[in-house]
Amino acid sequence: MSSSRPTWVAGNWKMHGSLAGNAALVDAIQKGLKAGITGEIVLCAPFPYLDQVSRLLSGSMMTLGAQDVSQDAAGAFTGDVSAAMLADFGCRYVLVGHSERRRLHGETDEKVAEKFGAALSAGLRPVLCLGETLAERKAGQTEKIVIRQLEAVLTLYGAAAFQNAVLAYEPVWAIGTGRVATPEEAEAVHRLLRERVAMKDSSIAAELRIVYGGSVKADNASFLFAQPNIDGGLIGGASLEAKDFLAICHAANF
Ligand code: PGA
Repeated sequence: MSSSRPTWVAGNWKMHGSLAGNAALVDAIQKGLKAGITGEIVLCAPFPYLDQVSRLLSGSMMTLGAQDVSQDAAGAFTGDVSAAMLADFGCRYVLVGHSERRRLHGETDEKVAEKFGAALSAGLRPVLCLGETLAERKAGQTEKIVIRQLEAVLTLYGAAAFQNAVLAYEPVWAIGTGRVATPEEAEAVHRLLRERVAMKDSSIAAELRIVYGGSVKADNASFLFAQPNIDGGLIGGASLEAKDFLAICHAANF
């Protein structure tokens, strides 16, 4: 982790939660965090719980995020949720292009880029998720894939758009599998992504938070976070247990 970039750790609850469970989880996390730390901890709750979690987080050092957003501002899009709606409910961040959205909902690079833009327009900070599949890694295509996913956004919005965004490198083969990228494997991709943004704007690249996701746990977090280009984590499974999430937050010095 670079000292100049504030650390960023988010919990991605995916489709988990209940009113009672969320209240207990947030309460336990709040109680376990140190005071006076710089950086951000974000909880990405399912849509129906945004209002509840927003209230639970009031006065806390943690902030609220959502897991997806529509690329459209309003209209006949049954089931979709706009960026302005998320902002109304106190969201500061929204994930775009999570591999589960790309794979299960057919989201293309272009659609993800539009979602990124929609989030920015509403004053939200998009968290652009990208990463290769196992087959792509085995075929030596990791760099090509992540650059393609990044370029889809860079081309449309330029490097300036990353001033208010976070990049999350999440190798698909590491998500929910217990198979984590080694710190060196992750660092190599993070460095590549930062260099690519730097080709357009070196000062924005230097400040950009690039976080790692995919089977981050208490026992591997500190090794990952020790890498110079890894600025925090996007945590799925381990964000659902206060003890596990707190151990990761502590590894990030929260
Ligand atoms: P995981 O999920 O930590 O359970 O691997 C990460 C994610 O999907 O963001």
